[in-house]
Amino acid sequence: MALSISRCNFKKKLTRSIYCSLFQKNVQSDTSTQNKQEPAVDSIKTTFRKKLMNGPNLRNFFKSESLAVDWIDVRKENEVPYIEPKSLLGNGRKVYFEVYGCQMNVNDTEVIWSILENYDYEQTKEINDADVIFLVTCAIRESAEEKIWNKLKSLKGLRKKRSKDKPHLKIGVVGCMAERLKEKVLEQDQSVDLVVGPDAYRDIPKLLVLSETGQKCINVMLSYDETYADIMPVRLNQDSVTAYISIMRGCDNMCTYCIVPWTRGKERSRPVSSILKEVENLVSKGVKEITLLGQNVNSYRDLSENNSDTSLVSQPTSLSKGFTTVYKPKLGGLRFYHLLEKVANIDPEVRIRFTSPHPKDFPDECLHVIQSYPNICKSLHLPAQSGNSAVLERMRRGYTREAYLELVENVRKILPSVALTSDFICGFCGETEEEFKDTLSLIEEVKFSMAYLFMYSMREKTTAHRRFKDDVSHHIKHKRLEQMIAMFRYHVEKRNRAQIGQIQLVLIEGFSKRSKSNLVGRNDQNLNVVIPGLDLVPTKCEYNDCRLLKPGDYVAVHINDANSQILKGIPLYRTKLTDFSNSQVHGEVLRLRELPLNS
Ligand code: 5AD
Ligand code: SF4
Repeated sequence: MALSISRCNFKKKLTRSIYCSLFQKNVQSDTSTQNKQEPAVDSIKTTFRKKLMNGPNLRNFFKSESLAVDWIDVRKENEVPYIEPKSLLGNGRKVYFEVYGCQMNVNDTEVIWSILENYDYEQTKEINDADVIFLVTCAIRESAEEKIWNKLKSLKGLRKKRSKDKPHLKIGVVGCMAERLKEKVLEQDQSVDLVVGPDAYRDIPKLLVLSETGQKCINVMLSYDETYADIMPVRLNQDSVTAYISIMRGCDNMCTYCIVPWTRGKERSRPVSSILKEVENLVSKGVKEITLLGQNVNSYRDLSENNSDTSLVSQPTSLSKGFTTVYKPKLGGLRFYHLLEKVANIDPEVRIRFTSPHPKDFPDECLHVIQSYPNICKSLHLPAQSGNSAVLERMRRGYTREAYLELVENVRKILPSVALTSDFICGFCGETEEEFKDTLSLIEEVKFSMAYLFMYSMREKTTAHRRFKDDVSHHIKHKRLEQMIAMFRYHVEKRNRAQIGQIQLVLIEGFSKRSKSNLVGRNDQNLNVVIPGLDLVPTKCEYNDCRLLKPGDYVAVHINDANSQILKGIPLYRTKLTDFSNSQVHGEVLRLRELPLNS
């Protein structure tokens, strides 16, 4: 395989270049005896020395090899000696993305697209038109990877079908699964041309060029500092009134079940200034809701050099009470709540959300910032994973059931209207029936508004894989999952129905998926609210004299129905986020300041 050949060549070149540099030293030391030597020999030596000085050095070998091997990082280098910059251009070649997994992957796709757009590639939404197909992958559970293998199988058929009109079709597997499996992806599926890990996206144009020669290319080098801070992601859906901004990457938590620290690498934060620039840019384009993203979003910490506020350095690290970490406390720098405040201040009419946080990083300072800004949504994700302290310890979550419940109490004290959501895993190694019952009782006690529920999936490389046995049968895991779902449904529906009669602020996002005669938006608590897109009479609304509601409008909605998934309501009047929150503060929400839209 090309990969192993490249590695051998690399070793040869490396030996050669080390040899060259040693020889160079000898030549230099010889110059002390120069006077005693014949002039002809002297001149040959000088010419030879010059040649050596100007010739290729270790860096050059690194650069050129890096295109085909997985363990050399050349992301910061712009030039490759034997690739002309012009030949890196895509010349309008069409790229198709298929995105799997979490929101982080959507954002990564936007980064990749931004890079490729700069190199004159075009995007296509039609897989049959594509010259390059990228699968942006997830590795968190086995089922996520199975989907990718199935897709690759179906792409083989596509490649065959298109072999005449698209003989150079390239298929790339990028992101977490690429990082986890590395060259195994190439070994297992011959149709894959490129394998690129989450920190190597800058290399994609070079890898694409190299793959033109028929070579398989791979770069899965992880980085300590790559945040793509200088790359302004290009949104895949430019019309959307909502957007995501990645503020940090990686994770240092090392939960024993989780592959993320291996696929996404060490935790690192993007500098505040580059985040604020991106927020301003999105706001200027009419975006009304921004979600700050990261594997551990509230562990954010900007330690960059130009962050010169020395008073911050003396601040103690403030974890939530009763929480511990496996890593050394990070000192100084700007923290998540500093960033949150700066982002919220950019435009009070733009909603701010964030995901996915870790419960350990909710100090009171953070909760108070959330409380004091009407445009920071009062919905928090507190992934619990289990309700049993012994399981939590095996998972290395850094808290007990009691500490988690104390945090919930504290959050609800400071943010009384907060909606809490969570993640739970059932059937983790050694989970007994009694231990699982604690998860059910935690769900019952906290009464979350929404949750992501998973059956445990053992991942190679993780601590759990090394230390524990995946000893809960699939059948039991499945049964427990059903029990969790039933418990959630019951409480969520109850919670949602309790909202009937309220007037809530909804940001309209577009048509409902089920019917073009309905609109859908989300309330502050991140719940979908469906309203009829009535042929509305004009309002004497001061903000917008358009007859119909449109995406990006804030509207006061009277909630009149609910189930476990959605709320339904009647639009009352178009408003502003600031006005709505002021009227809430003054108890005026029920006073309809303007004509109801549908009167
Ligand atoms: N098996 C099942 N679920 C997992 N998660 C992470 N790793 C695993 C795994 N090995 C879940 C956790 C996490 C969410 C993103 O995915 O609940 O919060
Ligand atoms: Fe995985 Fe734990 Fe990090 Fe979340 S906090 S990404 S579950 S290791």
